[in-house]
Order: sequence, then structure tokens, then C-alpha cells
Amino acid sequence: AVLVGLHASSLSQEENASDATLEELEALLETAGGVCVGSVLQNRETPEARTFIGEGKVAEVAALVQAQGADLVVFDNELSPSQQRVLTEEVGAQVIDRAGLILDIFAQRASSREGKLQVELAQLNYQSTRLVGEGVALSRLAGGIGTRGPGESKLEINRRRIRERLTDLRRELDEMEKQRTLRRQSREKGGVPVVALVGYTNAGKSTLFNRLTGADVYVQDQLFATLDSVSRPVNLPHGTKALLVDTVGFIRKLPHEVVEAFHATLEEARLADVLVLVSDGADPQLLARRHTVGEVLDSLGAVDAPRIDALNKCDLLSPSADVLPGALPISAATGQGLDELLTAVEDALDAGTEEVSLLVPFARYALTDKLRRLGSVLSQEHTAEGVVLRWRAEKANVDYALREGAVLLETERK
Ligand code: GTP
Repeated sequence: AVLVGLHASSLSQEENASDATLEELEALLETAGGVCVGSVLQNRETPEARTFIGEGKVAEVAALVQAQGADLVVFDNELSPSQQRVLTEEVGAQVIDRAGLILDIFAQRASSREGKLQVELAQLNYQSTRLVGEGVALSRLAGGIGTRGPGESKLEINRRRIRERLTDLRRELDEMEKQRTLRRQSREKGGVPVVALVGYTNAGKSTLFNRLTGADVYVQDQLFATLDSVSRPVNLPHGTKALLVDTVGFIRKLPHEVVEAFHATLEEARLADVLVLVSDGADPQLLARRHTVGEVLDSLGAVDAPRIDALNKCDLLSPSADVLPGALPISAATGQGLDELLTAVEDALDAGTEEVSLLVPFARYALTDKLRRLGSVLSQEHTAEGVVLRWRAEKANVDYALREGAVLLETERK
């Protein structure tokens, strides 16, 4: 494949390509199973409406395609459907953009039923906006004999079938999301807090997850090794039990079709009680990528939970390196810094809550049920005066319990 990027002064920094983004595109291409045989970065005032890059560059790319025998051209910037079509004709090879490439990787990687459905939804959404002319073959979806109505063109059949399939997919995914919500609610009733590992793809989230939970999640030195979110219980240093969730990796320009389709999976990050932002300490693009991760989280609405920065792969760094101020240096590979990380997670979960011993007099016995719902009962003992509870709850709820007639025996703040 030949890689092409455009840097135009009229485009925003997010939309522009650079040497660094082309390098990342090459890593994505390799992940997808392709090989880069040349790359072209053009600087220009504004994109060309018809071909995105300039006429001369189109000819240069076409010559490169021919000389190298390339069969694919990948644009780092987003192309409109018509630009994609025109370019495909003019460079003599199939043309896709970054979003199309990421979708292709996702399609290869999805393993769970939900993951596969999510990818199909994303691909159909992507294709349906690009299905603009007669002769666009969606062979897998195109109508078989007998499905064709009178007077319908092939294109209309494709459109209709896509719409039908989209409706089916959404319905099935909604059903799965409902199940997931039910599971989550029962988890919340059980009072188990959720800690999500989030971060740029290849930062080492799965390695960290395995290390912390003793699980055996797929680890690869490649992008998007994890597409399905998995969760496992962990014990924190002072005895708090939590559920650790590994999530799909983030990347610059995660296609919006992907964000939409993976909504349910990414929802795990949105609803987590604590977010651990894992960064690759040895990554030259660290700060830009850490910024992307923050932005994706904001866009998902994951704004309430405390965020803890973990600087992973510190075994590869010199001890004095201060690449991400305020982050906890860890190594998922050697185990360094993991106790500190778990303590920080527990502190963040405990912040704003208090652990108290309360006496609920028998006359107020009904209150114990309510307290169970408002916090976690750590232990319970019946005495001559009433029930003595060891209870962890938010401060406002402790005040409520006291107003309702519970008696404070002892407070402990961790
Ligand atoms: P995605 O699934 O793509 O989102 O990646 P991920 O963030 O889950 O990364 P993963 O755990 O698959 O690790 C990526 C690569 O980094 C693997 O080759 C790991 O062996 C390596 N790695 C992870 N943690 C460390 C570490 O602490 N030190 C070193 N040296 N390498 C690490």
C-alpha cells in the first residue's frame, strides 16, 4: 500500500497529517496485514475539492502505485465518498482512508458475538454513506435472486437491505446492552465498585490487567489486540473488592462509526467509579496521545470518575525521566509500582466516603435495610441494645443515618 497525507493550513491540527501521524498509519496498516511501499505527504493551502490532494500529487501517487505494484492507497485524512471514488479511478488502486483502515482491523479482530455485531454496524454505517453510485458492489449484502422487487435498481436494493440489516443489528445490540445494564445493576447492588483501564492502543492495558487479576487476556505488540471489554475481580490493599475492566484501546481519529457501534463497550469506561489512564512511557508521542485519551473520555461523558495517570513501561525509562508529571510510574511487565497504583485506586474509591460503626437501636430496626442500600455493610452484630453495623458510605448518608436515630460509635477515615 501507498500512504498519503495532506497538511493544509486551512485544516485544524486534528484534521492534518504529519510525519508522526503517517508513521502511526503505517503501524495500523501493518496491523491490518498490509505492507507500506511508499508514502507521500503534501503541504498545501487548502484541500482540493475533487481529489483532496493536488492534481500533480495524484499523478505522483499513481506513478508510485504503478512502479511499486501497490494495490491499495490509504489516506491519513478523512475523504468524502466522492473523493474516494474519483481517487480510486485516478490512482489505479483501491483508495480508503484512516477510518476505513481502522474498521478493517476491527473486522479482523472482533471475536465475541457482540464485538462482531458492533463491527458490522460500524462498517455498514461507513459504507452506507459511501454507497453513492450504480455498480458499487456490496457482494455480501447484494440481493439474491428472488428478493428483487419490480422496477428496483440494484442500488436501491442494496440501500434497502443495508437499512434492514442496520435495523436488525441495532435491535440485537440493544438487547445485549440491556443484558449488560442488568448485569451492571446487579453489580452495583452488590456494592462492587468498577475500575476501568483506559488508554491509547498498545499502551499495555491488557498486560496490566493480566498482572493485576491473574487473568490470561490476549497480549500482543500490535494495535487493537483487545476489542471486547473483559472484567475480573481484584482485591485492593485495604480489603476493598473491586471489578477491573479492560477496554478497547483509543486512537487518534477513532472513526465515529466505531464510537457509535462500540458505545456499549465504551460505556464501561463511562460508568466506572475510577479510571486508570494507562500511557506508554517509552512512546515519543506520549503527550499527544494522552491528550487524545482525555478527549475521548470527555466525549463519552466519562467526566465524573476520578482519573489516575499510570505511566507504564517504566522499566524502559531512565529513573530520572519526568515525561508525564503527576503520573505513577509502573511496569506491567516487572510489577514495579503496582502496589502504589492499587493504593491510589483504593484511596480514590474511598475519597468522599467514611467508614463508621453505628448502633441502630431495635426501635429503629427498619433503618438497617435502608443503610444497606445507601452504603456497604462490612459487618453486623446483634447486641442487647440493637444492631451494631460497620458501615461505609458517603458523608451525607452518614449524616442521614444519624438524623434517623442511629448512634455513632466510632469513626475511621482512611
Ligand atoms: P490494545 O489491545 O491494542 O489496546 O493494547 P494494550 O494497551 O492492551 O497493550 P498490551 O497489553 O497488548 O501490550 C502491548 C505491548 O507492550 C506488548 O508487547 C507488551 O508485552 C508490552 N508491554 C506492556 N507492558 C509493558 C511494560 O511494563 N514494559 C515493557 N517493556 N513492555 C510492556
